[in-house]
Amino acid sequence: MRFTTTLVLAAALAGVTFAGASGQERIDGAAIAKKGLPNVRACESCHTGVDAPLLNGQLEFYIAQQLSDFRNGFRVSEACAPAAKGLNEKQSAAVAKYYNEQPRKKAPVPDEDAALIEKGKEMVLNGDVPRDIFPCSRCHGGDGRGGDFAALAGQNPAYTLKQVQDLRTGKRENDELGIMQAIAQKLTDDDVKAAAAYFHQAVK
Ligand code: HEC
Ligand code: HEC
Repeated sequence: MRFTTTLVLAAALAGVTFAGASGQERIDGAAIAKKGLPNVRACESCHTGVDAPLLNGQLEFYIAQQLSDFRNGFRVSEACAPAAKGLNEKQSAAVAKYYNEQPRKKAPVPDEDAALIEKGKEMVLNGDVPRDIFPCSRCHGGDGRGGDFAALAGQNPAYTLKQVQDLRTGKRENDELGIMQAIAQKLTDDDVKAAAAYFHQAVK
């Protein structure tokens, strides 16, 4: 997939530049996350997995890409845009690296019911062949911890559902090749609620 290769390459190059610069100019990703900057609210003040998505253990290039998209308006969030706009490229890279290194955890919201989780497991691991839906695990990692694309394990089910709805309606359209937007067209809310229930409890 050329898109992935480009992203990985871009992330690798960004890493090189960052490492090169960090001698003189050490940017503390942990401090940005926990305390913020004079012009940026601490990420942790929102990103607990309740009202804003979990970032711990998320793919580094994915975090940096989303921040860049919020900054440029390719992805819209009134809540997150001010923080994203307050960061420069190097600060974004540092905070993305920090979050990637934190262990993935489970959003502190109640588990969904067992039958829904079981239904979701089927969708995540096997997809729905007659409806031409690939298993989510093929792209998001067997355990949902991120494969080629974003980690979904542990994520708040309400957030997972909202993202697929936004991708389906085109409210979110930063998925460059439209891969997930196309999949979202085939998914019903019930499919996504089930997959989201499974992903949420896939981290202890
Ligand atoms: C005022 C609350 C708030 C603050 C502060 C905030 N965010 Fe966000 N952020 C959000 C919300 C809400 C979303 C979900 C937007 C949506 O529904 O699409 C989000 C989404 C994101 C996403 C996309 C996650 C995904 O899984 O797609 C990333 C990455 C992100 N924020 C990083 C950060 C970082 C890094 C900081 C600190 C520099 C930060 N945010 C500060 C509220 C906030
Ligand atoms: C062919 C690959 C592929 C498959 C299969 C796939 N996705 Fe995705 N998904 C993507 C891509 C690409 C994105 C866009 C963002 C990115 O770069 O990770 C995405 C993004 C998402 C997001 C937004 C993540 C976030 O943190 O905001 C959710 C939620 C999601 N997918 C759910 C699912 C579910 C549920 C399934 C299974 C029913 C699924 N996906 C199957 C490729 C895929």
